[in-house]
Amino acid sequence: MAVQINPSILSADFARLADEARAVHGADWLHVDVMDNHFVPNLTLGVPVVESLARATDTPLDCHLMMTDPDRWAPQYVEAGAGSVTFHAEAAAAPVRLAREIRAKGARASMALKPATPIEPYEDLLPELDMLLIMTVEPGFGGQAFLDIMLPKIRRTRELIGKHGLDLWLQVDGGVSAATIERCAEAGADVFVAGSAVYGADDPEAAVRALRTQAEE
Ligand code: DX5
Ligand code: ZN
Repeated sequence: MAVQINPSILSADFARLADEARAVHGADWLHVDVMDNHFVPNLTLGVPVVESLARATDTPLDCHLMMTDPDRWAPQYVEAGAGSVTFHAEAAAAPVRLAREIRAKGARASMALKPATPIEPYEDLLPELDMLLIMTVEPGFGGQAFLDIMLPKIRRTRELIGKHGLDLWLQVDGGVSAATIERCAEAGADVFVAGSAVYGADDPEAAVRALRTQAEE
């Protein structure tokens, strides 16, 4: 299971996004949090910024759409240059159709679950996805404390992936840091989003390397 580290630019300086994207050279993906002030109580960025970011960095973009009506908007993020697009299960009207559309447009299709959303109702849908994101905080803000109570859900999801023999990445997002990444990896996560733990560090590249080493142990 290859470990991937995806810094979240939510914790970067938004006036210097291009530089901040390049400051994490060596990261697998750049995690881009799109918030619409409806699905979550915060507002960040949209399609034009993703288009510019895609031109500014060679690191592929992992767009996490915290928005209502992703059925309408997610395909536009593929066109904007995202290599992976994550919509929320709680917001998608037709998740199977949406995942197929994202894949057909050439990106990896991913679905996210808020902390209170169980994985079990989505078991049959997993083959339609390239990645599943388990939120380890309530979505909306960086810098929140990791929710340990999500570890059993990560474990159960890893078991389901094995049971069905799927090549599905399992991402965790929220409060992932040197203090928590080993627990996530042990539970079965293989893609780690880290915002404050990377951009809050004096040397973001070194922070990415350190997180990777910890997760691989
Ligand atoms: C939160 C976002 C996260 C956020 C994580 O809703 O989805 O991607 O940037 O930030 P940290 O790593 O600081 O918890
Ligand atoms: Zn995110």
